[in-house]
Amino acid sequence: MGYRVVIAGATGNVGREMLNILAERQFPVDEIAVLASRRSLGTEVSFGDKTLTTQDLDAFDFTGWDMALFAIGSDATKKYAPKAAAAGCVVIDNSSLYRYDADVPLIVPEVNPQAIHGYDKKNIIANPNCSTAQMVVALKPLHDRARIKRVVVSTYQSVSGSGKEGIDELWDQTKSIYNPTDDKPAKKFTKQIAFNVIPHIDVFMDSGDTKEEWKMVAETKKIVDPSIKVTATCVRVPVFVGHSEAVNIETEDFLDEDEARDILREAPGIMVIDKREDGGYVTPVECVGDFATFVSRIRQDSTIDNGLNLWCVSDNLRKGAALNAVQIAELLGREVLKKG
Ligand SMILES: NC(=O)c1ccc[n+]([C@@H]2O[C@H](COP(=O)([O-])OP(=O)(O)OC[C@H]3O[C@@H](n4cnc5c(N)ncnc54)[C@H](OP(=O)(O)O)[C@@H]3O)[C@@H](O)[C@H]2O)c1
Repeated sequence: MGYRVVIAGATGNVGREMLNILAERQFPVDEIAVLASRRSLGTEVSFGDKTLTTQDLDAFDFTGWDMALFAIGSDATKKYAPKAAAAGCVVIDNSSLYRYDADVPLIVPEVNPQAIHGYDKKNIIANPNCSTAQMVVALKPLHDRARIKRVVVSTYQSVSGSGKEGIDELWDQTKSIYNPTDDKPAKKFTKQIAFNVIPHIDVFMDSGDTKEEWKMVAETKKIVDPSIKVTATCVRVPVFVGHSEAVNIETEDFLDEDEARDILREAPGIMVIDKREDGGYVTPVECVGDFATFVSRIRQDSTIDNGLNLWCVSDNLRKGAALNAVQIAELLGREVLKKG
C-alpha cells in the first residue's frame, strides 16, 4: 500500500523537480494530485512516464490525502497550509513561513531526522532554505567530531533560487546584451544579473544583514545546534542552477584536513571531490540533477588554531528544496505513517 500525495505548486521549478524525484526514487504513491493557481488550470506536468493535469489549489479538498508537498511561496502557503493540515493531510512546506515556528520541525533528514516526531503539533513540517540545507549536511559530521564554534560563509547562489522569473530574467538579459535594441532592465533582481553579481538576496534587516543571511544563521541553529555562531554574506550570481558556498569553520577540537576529508567521505548525502589539481573540484554546472552535496577544496585555515575551509556545491532545486522535501516525505512514511 502506498500514499495519496498532493503536490502544490506543481507548475513551478521546485514542484516539477519534486515530481521528478518522487518518480526517480520510486516513492510509494497510490494516487497523486497536482495543484497550482487557477492561471495554470489544465496545464500538463510529467510524473515518471505519466502526464498529469493541474488542478486549482483553491478548489481542492485535502480530506483523505496523506501528505501535501507545498512549493507555492509564503503568501499562498499561509492561506492553504492550515486548510490542508486541518483536513488531516501532513504538509511538507518549502516556503520560509513556518521554519522558525517552535511547533513546526525544520528537517534535513541526514542531520536531524529525530525532529520528525514533532510534526503533529501543527501537522506541518518545514523544509529549510536552499543555502542552509546543503551547508548543514556538510557541517553536521564535522560538528559531531570536533564541535563547531563558528562558521563564516559566503554564498554564490543561482537565479533558480528565486523561481521561474529569476531564470527568465537571466536568460532575457543575457540575450539582450548582444542585442541592445531589445533592452531588458532589472525587474526580479535589484540590479543587472547577466554578467554581474549582486550581494543582496531577500529584504534588508535592521542589522544590515539580508533576510537570506539571517535565515542561514537561524536555521543552522535550529537544525544542527543553537550554540553554533554563523555569519553569512549571500550573493546572487549569473548561474541558472546550483548554489556554491565558501565555508570557513572554527572548531573547539583540532581537526586535521585529512581526517575532515575522511569524515565527509563517509557522511550521508555528501560526495567529496577534492584533488589538488586543475579541475579537481566541483562547480555548479556539474551538480545539476544530482542528489549529493559536493564538497571540494578541504584545507586547514592556518590563521586560527582550529580552522578549516571548504567549498560546498549542490543543486538548489534538489537538496535545497525538492529532494529534501521528498526525503522528509520518505522519513514521515517510514517513521510515522508506515504505509509504504
Ligand atoms: N527555488 C529554490 O531554490 C527554492 C529553494 C528552497 C525553497 N524554495 C521555495 O519553494 C517555493 C516555490 O519556489 P519555486 O522556485 O518553485 O517558484 P516558481 O517556479 O515561481 O513556482 C511557484 C509555484 O507556486 C504556484 N503558486 C504561486 N502562487 C499561488 C497561489 N496563490 N495559488 C496556487 N499556486 C500558486 C505557481 O503556480 P502558477 O504556475 O499557477 O503560477 C507555481 O506552481 C517558494 O516558497 C520558494 O521560496 C525555493
